[in-house]
Amino acid sequence: MAAKKAAKKTAKKKAAPKIKDPVFETVKIERDKGITFLIMNRPEKRNAMSPQLHMDMNDAIDYLSIDPATDVLVVTGAGKAFSAGQDIKLYFRGTADDPAARAKARRASNAWRWQKLSRFPKPTIAMVNGFCFGGAFTQVCACDFAIASNTATFGLSEVNWGIIPGGIVSWNVVQVMNYRNAVYYATTGEPFNGKRATEIGMVNKSVPAGKLKAEVMKLARLMQQKSPAAVRYTKEAIRSVRFMNEPEAADYLNAKSDALKHVDKEDSRGQGMSQFLDEKSYRPGLGHFERRNKG
Ligand code: COA
Repeated sequence: MAAKKAAKKTAKKKAAPKIKDPVFETVKIERDKGITFLIMNRPEKRNAMSPQLHMDMNDAIDYLSIDPATDVLVVTGAGKAFSAGQDIKLYFRGTADDPAARAKARRASNAWRWQKLSRFPKPTIAMVNGFCFGGAFTQVCACDFAIASNTATFGLSEVNWGIIPGGIVSWNVVQVMNYRNAVYYATTGEPFNGKRATEIGMVNKSVPAGKLKAEVMKLARLMQQKSPAAVRYTKEAIRSVRFMNEPEAADYLNAKSDALKHVDKEDSRGQGMSQFLDEKSYRPGLGHFERRNKG
């Protein structure tokens, strides 16, 4: 009987359908039990962002933003680079005489790197595995978290070839760094490593290259255990209140708290309260409740 039950359980596990993700020319999707890796995939060009990569990233993020199998999104690069920024040949020179193509590429570039990624409904982590230059700062800033390899090389290199940190890179960096560091790194173009990126607030932490993926997975698994609705509303709240005054923020947060009670199908608040007050099974100050009504 017990053997039969075990066989049934195994069969059930095996039956989980393999997800057939769309295939893109310059972007790859990989999965690990709810953690989805969205990978800029032009390693021979250090994942420089061509117009095609921008189109592919837009399509991939649209697809993943409504994907029920994605609990956490990790954005990273194939090979030894995160991304060497905009493709100077294909994005800048290649569209120089074609205003329509330039406008289309610019729209696509801003849409995925900022609008879509910063509003992604699930937690997002930038895994900065190597070179990260210029325009690639935007997607790092758009993600909720950023973890870098100690040896990753960051640089606001635009000034080194005579342009400004455009798109919205300048705006992004003053959000995450203090003003002095933003001006310093943008005007000198001086490269800095993952450790320095942590010191100046560009990333949450940096670790030895060999431990980068494990560190990202640890954070991703932690986020998988939290209430998805509470995490989503929290990140939306933190993002929005930055640009509000106090009365606006207070009103907005009241409304958001009320809305969360209706949106949260798992009733996380009820579960959290009863596991602390009635069951006494955990301490909210020290960890999270157990999700028993996964939606
Ligand atoms: N745009 C276009 N092509 C790029 C690129 C970019 N941003 N970054 C790298 N590439 C291409 C190189 O031209 C080269 O192409 P090739 O093999 O056809 O000659 C290939 O990627 C490998 O680059 P290479 O410079 O040989 O590799 P590297 O490991 O020695 O150096 C970088 C890597 C990233 C330090 C260097 O390529 C670089 O400085 N790139 C520009 C970074 C930048 O300033 N970006 C901001 C743009 S706004």
